[in-house]
Amino acid sequence: MLVSPSILNADYVRLAEDIQRLEVAGADAIHIDIMDGIFVNPITWGPPTIEAIRGVTDLCLEVHLMVDKPERVLDAYIKTNADLLMIHPESTVYLRKSLLEMKARGVKAGVALKLETPVQVLGNCLELVDVVLLLTCDEGFGGQTFQALSLDKIAEVAQLRDRYGLDFQIEVDGGVNMETAKQCKAAGADVLVAGSYVFKQDMKQAITSLQAL
Ligand code: DX5
Ligand code: ZN
Repeated sequence: MLVSPSILNADYVRLAEDIQRLEVAGADAIHIDIMDGIFVNPITWGPPTIEAIRGVTDLCLEVHLMVDKPERVLDAYIKTNADLLMIHPESTVYLRKSLLEMKARGVKAGVALKLETPVQVLGNCLELVDVVLLLTCDEGFGGQTFQALSLDKIAEVAQLRDRYGLDFQIEVDGGVNMETAKQCKAAGADVLVAGSYVFKQDMKQAITSLQAL
């Protein structure tokens, strides 16, 4: 199981130190939640912060774009040299075009679904994506409770992957802890985003035990 800690729970004035700690603790990637105050109420960071993070780590940087009309800002995010960008179909009418642009410019392409968005929405883009990110709680905040309805969605996406012989990763985001991670794995998840679970205890212990599932 791959573990991608979310820095939403990091210490923002000591971000470089927290990223270093995540590296030492064996994180497989760093999950960066970009919130624009429109698609979701909170505001977090933008391209300059990602560039700064890129400067202090070689870990895979995955950027979860919770922004309205991501096509407006895609170019700036591609230029940060992040490894993977994930966009929401709920935020754009240019989903396919945006995913195609990412691929053409050499960045991995991911599609992220809000908790309430049905899996059917993925119908016209699955063959393009490297990652399907399923929000397993409401978007915008860390530290929420995992919503069990996500388990059926994970299984549905895994079935679609089998049916069409595709090889994208299934990643889950929100309310991950040992117990919910086990359920996600059983349903077919490959990558776990974990924010509070990793930052609120011994990091290495948390990451290692999730990876060992
Ligand atoms: C929520 C974010 C998550 C969040 C997860 O909108 O997408 O990445 O940081 O936090 P936890 O693991 O605390 O639920
Ligand atoms: Zn996220």
